[in-house]
Amino acid sequence: MKQQQGKRTFLITGGTGFIGSHIAVRLLSQGHFLLILARSQKQLSATERFFRLLDWFGVEKHQRSRIQVLEGQLDHPTLGLNAGEYISVLDRVDETIHCASDTSFSVLKREEVEKTNVEGLKNLLDLVVRSRCRSFHLISTAYVAGAVNGLCKEDYVPTETFHNVYEETKARGEQIAMARCLEKGIKLGVYRPSIVCGDANTGRTLRFNALYYPVRTMHFFQKIYTRDILEQGGSKARSMGIHLDQAGTLHLPVRIESSESGGINLIPVNHFVESFISLLEDAPEGGVFHIVNPRNTEISHLIDYTQRFFRLEGIRIAASEEFRITSRNALEVLFENHVRAYSPYMKDTRVFENHRTENILSQRNIVCPEFNYDLFATCMQYALDVDWGRLLEPEITSS
Ligand SMILES: NC(=O)c1ccc[n+]([C@@H]2O[C@H](COP(=O)([O-])OP(=O)(O)OC[C@H]3O[C@@H](n4cnc5c(N)ncnc54)[C@H](OP(=O)(O)O)[C@@H]3O)[C@@H](O)[C@H]2O)c1
Repeated sequence: MKQQQGKRTFLITGGTGFIGSHIAVRLLSQGHFLLILARSQKQLSATERFFRLLDWFGVEKHQRSRIQVLEGQLDHPTLGLNAGEYISVLDRVDETIHCASDTSFSVLKREEVEKTNVEGLKNLLDLVVRSRCRSFHLISTAYVAGAVNGLCKEDYVPTETFHNVYEETKARGEQIAMARCLEKGIKLGVYRPSIVCGDANTGRTLRFNALYYPVRTMHFFQKIYTRDILEQGGSKARSMGIHLDQAGTLHLPVRIESSESGGINLIPVNHFVESFISLLEDAPEGGVFHIVNPRNTEISHLIDYTQRFFRLEGIRIAASEEFRITSRNALEVLFENHVRAYSPYMKDTRVFENHRTENILSQRNIVCPEFNYDLFATCMQYALDVDWGRLLEPEITSS
């Protein structure tokens, strides 16, 4: 890899992930050089995995000469690199972008999550402080704010209560990075996205979690009961009060427990990448940046969008008291169990301060789009086109 003037060499972790791959592709298109730390999986080497992702993005083959994929893993003191590779990274890296993370919420996975999000980060910082790299970019999450209500500062604020091990370890990661970078004089940028969905223009995405989960569950119910009505006499549907009208709209009476004030904070992936690149270039001194939507999408609006797009009716919000009077039916229990892990993010009353980020982004007129029906429909159309990821190669959707 021969370096051109003005072009930098970025070490990127999590390049096989949703966010990391998008950042890598954007930096590559700007002519930069990339060192990608990635794991092999099943029969595929790290390089094969990353290059399959580049195919999905449509990156031309000639651009790939500016990439070196290093097979490794965070939870190893030397990141699983051999001595030669490790020294070569020390000598070449200008800036590091840490996107790799264990994003599991499950308490049963605490050990693994800590191993990656805390110990893995320390191992990476060990390399960074010994290298020529002087800028460390940490992809964190707005949800390091933890289980609080109201305004969440665009700053390091100690938190004691978290919804899950993911939030907790991400918050610990920020503290560790802050202390280490301060001690060693390395500039630290901490980027805190909220929930990232598909591209606002195309709907393209590699992950079908978060926003997609509850919508997909309703779509699943729709398929099951429509088939029951059209092909099996409809007795199951009738027993649940479900029917299909003449125009093809399915009446699906499902109550979703929520308060009217709760919402979900969604940003399209292209907005995240554009914002991140702008901050990288326009705020080289670093800092904490909330890359969020200034407007939460209310659950009632998401329900409207879902019903309109999929031709459903009957889904509605219900307060907790209603479930005490009329307990959940089988579908409502299934739905609730399925989306429980996401519940803090769907009924969110947190407000993320973002003046610092907005001031910088406004210089390039970067504004987060409102998550309206058109954006929802764009995301869901792509999800349907690829059957919620099943029609994409498994190697690029599983992380
Ligand atoms: N997506 C969102 O909505 C969102 C929102 C807020 C913040 N974030 C943050 O954005 C970052 C990226 O998230 P994402 O959505 O891109 O997640 P993702 O698609 O699950 O990707 C995670 C990446 O981390 C890698 N990784 C995990 N454990 C590793 C280990 N021990 N060693 C080396 N690599 C490891 C994975 O490698 P494999 O492919 O080998 O598994 C994958 O490349 C994370 O820091 C996350 O906290 C994401």
